[in-house]
Amino acid sequence: MKLRAGILGKEGRLGTALCRDLRTSCDVIPLGRAEIDLSEPAKVAESLKGLGCDVFINTAAATDVDWCEQNPEPAWAINAASPAEIAQWTAQQQIRFIQLSTDYVFNGRHNRPYREEDVTDPLNVYGRTKRCGELDSLAANPKTLVLRVSWIFGPDKPSFLEKILNRARNASRVEAVSNKYSTPTYTRDLARWLKHLLEKDSICGVLHVCNSGACSWREWGQVAIDAAKRAGTRFQTDFVNPIPLESLTTFVADRPRYTALDTAKFQELTGVRPRPWEEAVQEYVREHYRGA
Ligand SMILES: NC(=O)c1ccc[n+]([C@@H]2O[C@H](COP(=O)([O-])OP(=O)(O)OC[C@H]3O[C@@H](n4cnc5c(N)ncnc54)[C@H](OP(=O)(O)O)[C@@H]3O)[C@@H](O)[C@H]2O)c1
Repeated sequence: MKLRAGILGKEGRLGTALCRDLRTSCDVIPLGRAEIDLSEPAKVAESLKGLGCDVFINTAAATDVDWCEQNPEPAWAINAASPAEIAQWTAQQQIRFIQLSTDYVFNGRHNRPYREEDVTDPLNVYGRTKRCGELDSLAANPKTLVLRVSWIFGPDKPSFLEKILNRARNASRVEAVSNKYSTPTYTRDLARWLKHLLEKDSICGVLHVCNSGACSWREWGQVAIDAAKRAGTRFQTDFVNPIPLESLTTFVADRPRYTALDTAKFQELTGVRPRPWEEAVQEYVREHYRGA
């Protein structure tokens, strides 16, 4: 019998990918803002009534870091209070809750990839609300699995990658931050990893999942441009100039500098070894970027 998976965030970058790619192993119930509005925590339980599923995956969130900084109350409702409501409901149903979270729960002052047990210390409202969502979900349902991911990209919604590729096609100079590091995570890889996690109902708590390695935004953009060039895309410039994070004066919220995630626990639990981020970016650009 296939698992019935409720997936919230069906129009998001990750949610769309999961709703499509998990169909081979699950009966997917795609859910969006129209079905469950996370900005109203008091109404979440009512919206969930009658939803028959074996696992609930919440990919929905307020993900605009600067919007969260300027709108802390709705950000808290969406990223913390409502996920806690979903966790309580899943506990009543005695089903598993998978809550997506972020590398931004860390302050970024490490010089090695963060492990699950490392102390959290978010620098901004987005990170604080997501951390609160983690803690409240874990407390409400012992069958909660918090999946921390970083720098998501994929074919379903543009990310930093499309921005830099399109800019390099249309402008003679492009630049990206070279002193902020994490790991790009390909949505289609994440969907594959999630299938393994869905098979092992006993895995709960906090888990880091992303491709392997670490890079700056500049390196991420450069690898994407190099791959697109090999695939035939013509650029006005094919070099990404390095700039420091401090030069981006339009950012409202403080950002952590180094938030690569260590996936050793995930590898140990599933036997799956995430491929390097460069390979995932190259495949994505080859198969999905239509800039030529
Ligand atoms: N993007 C990244 O680089 C990144 C990095 C680390 C962690 N994460 C985490 O990974 C998860 C998925 O991220 P993503 O990149 O797929 O995000 P995304 O593309 O911004 O999608 C977020 C989804 O949340 C939905 N949403 C926002 N407010 C809502 C509300 N009030 N009620 C119901 N739904 C609402 C959006 O719906 P609408 O389409 O209707 O707006 C959208 O479908 C999130 O938990 C995020 O915190 C993301």
